[in-house]
Amino acid sequence: MAIEALAPAGTGVRIREAVDADWVDAGRICYEAFATLADQHGFPHDFPNVAAASEPIRWLINHPRVFAVVAERDGRVIGSNFLDERGTISAIGPISVDPHAQNRHVGRLLMDAVLERAHAREAPGVRLLQIAYHNRSLGLYAKLGMEVRGAFAAMHGEPIRRSFPGYDVRPATPDDEYACNSHCLRVHGHARAGEVREAIDAGSARVVERLGRITGYTTRVGYFSHSVAETNDDLRALIAEADDFGTPGFLVPLSNNDLFRWCLEQGLRVFFVLNLMTLGLYQEPEGAYMPSVGY
Ligand SMILES: CC(C)(COP(=O)(O)OP(=O)(O)OC[C@H]1O[C@@H](n2cnc3c(N)ncnc32)[C@H](O)[C@@H]1OP(=O)(O)O)[C@@H](O)C(=O)NCCC(=O)NCCS
Repeated sequence: MAIEALAPAGTGVRIREAVDADWVDAGRICYEAFATLADQHGFPHDFPNVAAASEPIRWLINHPRVFAVVAERDGRVIGSNFLDERGTISAIGPISVDPHAQNRHVGRLLMDAVLERAHAREAPGVRLLQIAYHNRSLGLYAKLGMEVRGAFAAMHGEPIRRSFPGYDVRPATPDDEYACNSHCLRVHGHARAGEVREAIDAGSARVVERLGRITGYTTRVGYFSHSVAETNDDLRALIAEADDFGTPGFLVPLSNNDLFRWCLEQGLRVFFVLNLMTLGLYQEPEGAYMPSVGY
């Protein structure tokens, strides 16, 4: 189905694929939508300013493996949404609608557009992490068939800057790709090779080695990146070596009590809690991991 066909006649809303010029409006709206919501609930802002929200929006719009859509009314952008298609599983978001246009089904149209796309491409599954205090997005995603799989704390604070004897953390190289993807496959049942390759090329990926064997990796310890390892100690080594966690910070499964408590003991703080929601292929991870805000 053409994505224009998703917007019902008479609403004046049109859904179309995003182009580079949309990043200015889409970035501002993304900042305002998240900031307004956070203010209403007394939470800190996800993005500190418009520029911080606009940077990932522009990157997503221009990424060849991300499907990007905007909602338009009277020729004016009023919202955007994204489908990251770099892996077996596609990641939705961030979705945002102009605060003045919310609660009038624009969010649903933007979700329909990316779900239609995933369906057309026969994606085995789609996922997202949903900010738990946002009742509307929780209701919207659940009505669209998505299921809650678990809760995750975004952890932020001062870098730990510690190394653990026997756990060598170093930048990942192209030679490490197979080991990284094998760990992901073992824990999640699918690899995230596209993201791993990009992170290695960008110089942000790190691996941890024990006795000369790679036992875990991170594409970067942060909100937009993921990590997979054999044990929590491998994850601890990767976290403790990171220069900066950014805000809202990296994501720790709350079912991993050992890792969560350790983060708290290091002085890190919870920014907010998110729910993993999935549609389609899903298996419970078997091993140590930290998701990105996508999944
Ligand atoms: C999330 C967001 C994109 C949704 O867009 P929207 O246009 O406001 O939402 P819609 O009107 O399309 O859909 C809201 C749905 O949730 C339902 N809903 C609203 N409040 C609800 C509640 N408290 N409990 C359950 N369902 C609720 C509505 O009934 C509606 O369902 P319907 O389409 O079956 O009628 C928008 O609110 C937004 O930009 N929020 C700020 C950014 C954000 O939080 N993004 C998501 C991060 S997880």
